[in-house]
Amino acid sequence: SASRRLSGLRALVTSGPTHEAIDPVRYIANRSSGRQGHAIAAELARQGAEVTLVSGPVTLPDPPGVNTLHVNSAREMLQACEGALPVDIAICAAAVSDWRASEEAGQKIKKDGKEPPALKLCENPDILARLSASGAKRPRLVIGFAAETSDIAEQAAAKRQRKGCDWILANDVSAESGTFGGPDNRIILIDDQGQEDWPRSSKDAVAQRLAARIAQAFDRPHRQ
Ligand code: C5P
Repeated sequence: SASRRLSGLRALVTSGPTHEAIDPVRYIANRSSGRQGHAIAAELARQGAEVTLVSGPVTLPDPPGVNTLHVNSAREMLQACEGALPVDIAICAAAVSDWRASEEAGQKIKKDGKEPPALKLCENPDILARLSASGAKRPRLVIGFAAETSDIAEQAAAKRQRKGCDWILANDVSAESGTFGGPDNRIILIDDQGQEDWPRSSKDAVAQRLAARIAQAFDRPHRQ
């Protein structure tokens, strides 16, 4: 039926922020809610795909019908993603922390009355780039997101090249856009054909439109 257009396909979705431990009680994080990634996982499952969702710490419930794996850090997220391969489709919607503390203290760092401690950072793995370059195990369709505040289409096209993914969904997160923390999203999709502007809509509607476009890419036309 029209509502099960993705049956027989396996999908991997990342969602939410990551938490990077500084010591047993402190961490580095960001304000990602996971709403867009969770909406995509739910919609793909609704359309019949077998979905693994790798989620950072969020307050959202696990989407129905989705195999949800909970992780904290970027490195745990990468490991869970690699463990979910092979898949047909990978969608990286997580806001992965670019950096982590280069050393995690085993004990709570004490305020000892001296200088504040300096936080030394190192780079996290890029999960989207790694999935895009996973050789024989590479998903047939790899999709990333790009949050931009200016020259959105140009920046996103460059990011698509750099990361080696197939599609990039760029969104405008400038203050005027109201996307950050808001319920809506306005997407520019970049693929090898060029750019497609989607009208502003809810994150659920973005998930539905993306699922429809994926079905089309896998030649699963709408059946009446
Ligand atoms: O480079 P930037 O963070 O803007 O790229 C965003 C895209 O890359 C998103 O799809 C995000 O999920 C993915 N990403 C990732 N691992 C990282 C950083 C970003 O998968 N360490």
